[in-house]
Order: sequence, then structure tokens, then C-alpha cells
Amino acid sequence: MVSKAETHAMKMALKLAKSGRGMTFPNPMVGAVILDRDGNHVGDGFHRKCGAPHAEVIALASAGDAASGGTMIVTLEPCCHHGRTGPCTDEIIRAGISRLVISMTDPDPRMSGEGIEQLESAGIVVETGLLSEKARELNRVYLHYLETARSWVTLKIALSLDGRTAAADGSSKWISCDRSRRHVQKMRASAGAVLTGAGTVRADDPELTVRLPDILPRRQPVRIVVSATGDFGESRKIFRSQGRVIIAVPEGVVTNLTEYKDMPGVEVWEFPADSRIRGIDLTLLFERTALEGIGSVLCEAGSDLSTRLLKDELVDSVSIFTAPVILGGGGRPAFELLGINSIGNAIRLENVSSRRSGSDFLTEGRIVYRTD
Ligand SMILES: NC(=O)c1ccc[n+]([C@@H]2O[C@H](COP(=O)([O-])OP(=O)(O)OC[C@H]3O[C@@H](n4cnc5c(N)ncnc54)[C@H](OP(=O)(O)O)[C@@H]3O)[C@@H](O)[C@H]2O)c1
Repeated sequence: MVSKAETHAMKMALKLAKSGRGMTFPNPMVGAVILDRDGNHVGDGFHRKCGAPHAEVIALASAGDAASGGTMIVTLEPCCHHGRTGPCTDEIIRAGISRLVISMTDPDPRMSGEGIEQLESAGIVVETGLLSEKARELNRVYLHYLETARSWVTLKIALSLDGRTAAADGSSKWISCDRSRRHVQKMRASAGAVLTGAGTVRADDPELTVRLPDILPRRQPVRIVVSATGDFGESRKIFRSQGRVIIAVPEGVVTNLTEYKDMPGVEVWEFPADSRIRGIDLTLLFERTALEGIGSVLCEAGSDLSTRLLKDELVDSVSIFTAPVILGGGGRPAFELLGINSIGNAIRLENVSSRRSGSDFLTEGRIVYRTD
């Protein structure tokens, strides 16, 4: 049985865990709260960044002797292995914690319940599963990485009411309102990388940086541009702006990149040409980004790349802004043909939220791909 005070403490631990967003990958975000024998809050902590002390250790240090005989509330099963830091299970046992309330077990194969077993063997009472849905959502990037070894991809699109992303001449700037554009800046600031296609670079010449004075990103997100040709036309802002820019191309086109490849901050990632399509297998791109410590990728592209990503089942969630403008049939559609010929084959969303964003509507959700 879990008490009201423990549920309240778990909500607090989940909130604390969020403070590490964007900094902990490939580790999870974790928060912990310590209640003393009488149920008083005596300590808390969260995992600040990969390589830094774990939430449990920080919470125990902040509680000091008051932790002895108390309860630890933690959003994820404590680790029991030697990584960059020592096992948290040892610290918990040493501190004399008598009860542990955990939101979810850690699917990391080095853990998967072993941490809980160790704690129970030491005589600690362990309750698991409190607010586990919330903990899973919080750590979706981490869980996805353990399952697929890829970065989490969010597709962001600004649409007209009639589902168009650009006018007939290709212009799309300012479809969405000020407030939505500000929100997109925040999304960029918390993403590991922002991705676009060469088509958008050629049409809009965007920088894709975070430029709001009151949002100081802990670091500018990496920007990634994919191209099958390496042809960006004339000199583009994205390569000249500050920060790291990756150009992802198939082998053999690097000769087209002489203008950019030696610019400060610019890197070229070459992948084998994909025999099925013009360009590269984007799965390989997201495996490489994950290996480089980029947990989440925000894609802001036109219909060509957005369609490719959906077809390859690489989009994990969408953030779609719908603006009160109509562009008509000449406007560019959000997606090209996806091979969906009946409503039963539609790509659907789950965990959907929908809310106002200034004069626009923002719909967000996870993509569900058909498994049959
Ligand atoms: N409303 C919105 O939210 C929004 C957002 C972004 C853009 N847009 C609009 O979208 C329009 C541009 O759309 P678009 O479809 O032309 O551009 P896009 O999807 O951004 O880029 C397409 C290009 O990406 C590259 N690419 C795609 N898949 C690839 C793969 N698997 N491997 C390697 N390269 C790959 C190719 O580059 P190469 O041609 O170099 O081979 C391809 O031509 C513009 O009008 C822009 O304003 C709207």
C-alpha cells in the first residue's frame, strides 16, 4: 500500500526529474525524494546530467542522518552496477533506508529488476509501479533508445487549415503565429538536434537556431541537414551561423560540398547510398546521432523528408500547429503519397493532446504504426 504522502512525493520526484531534460541522455531523467520515519520531506535530488551523481545519491546527501529508517521515493529502479558512478543500491542500504517506492523498473539489461532484488535482500520493503505511466512518458527518449538504439524523432509541422505547409511559390514563413513560433524555439532549445532537408535550406535559407533573448539554451542544438545531392545552391545561412552543423549525405557527393565542408562547426557525415531511394537510409542517421549522445531530434522539414521519415516509420511523435489560414489546392501538402488507400490504413496518434497556441492549435501525440 502506498500512502497519500508517498504519492505526493512521487509527483514531486517526477517534477524534479524533468529538470534534467535534454542533459542526461543516454541516461534517464530521474528524481528522488526522502521522507523520514514520520513522513516528513527531508531530502530530494535529481540527475543533472550524464556522468553527474545520480538522483538517489544527491537526495541521500541532502537528507543526511534523517534518511535512516525513512522512505525513498524514486522515479526509476536504482542502479546496482558500476558505471561512471558507484551503485545506488549500496548507498541506499548504507544510509539505512527502510522502504522504497519506485515508479518503474529499469529495462536496461544490466538492471531489469536486479536492483530491486538486491534492496529486498537487504531487508528493504520495495513497492513498484506508482505513477508508472507518467514515468514512462517522462523517459520516452531513454526507453526508445534502449529498444531501438536510435534517437527519438519528433516531426514538427506548421499547417494551414486546409493542410498545406507552404504556398504554391514555396513560401511558408509566418504560417503560424508569434506564440507558436516562440514555442518552436523552446522545442529547439530542449532538443538534442534540429533536422531539415536540403529542399527547405534551398527554399527558406533558415538558421534553425534558438534566438529568444529570455531562453538561454544550455547549448544551441546541433543542426542536421540531409541531402542526396550535396547541392544547396548559393551560400546558406545555416552553415555560417554559430554552432555545430552536420551535413548528412550519401558517399560520393562530398565533392559538391567544397564550399561548406571546412567551415567552422560544419561536419560531413557520409552514409552508404540507399539502393531503394535517392539518398541515405535515415535509420543509420538516427543510430549515429544516438551514438553521439543526441537523444531527441526535432524535424522541421518540407513534405519530401517528412514523407520519407513516416514511410520508414522513423517518426516517433508529432507536434502539428494548425493556423487559421487557407492556402488552397495550389499550396504544398504536408505529405506526399504514403500508400494509404483506406481509412483503416491511416497512421494514427495516441496520447494525443490538443491546445490553443495563440491563434493556432497545437496537436501533439505519438505515432502508432500498424503492426499487421
Ligand atoms: N510549414 C512547415 O512546417 C514547413 C517546414 C519546413 C519546410 N517547409 C516548406 O517546405 C518546402 C520545401 O519542401 P521540400 O519537400 O522540398 O524539402 P525538404 O523535405 O525539407 O527537403 C527535401 C530534400 O531533403 C533531402 N532528402 C530527403 N530525404 C533524403 C534521404 N533519405 N537522404 C538524403 N537526402 C534526403 C533531398 O535533398 P537533395 O535534393 O539535395 O538531394 C530532398 O530533396 C519549402 O517551401 C518550405 O518553405 C514548410
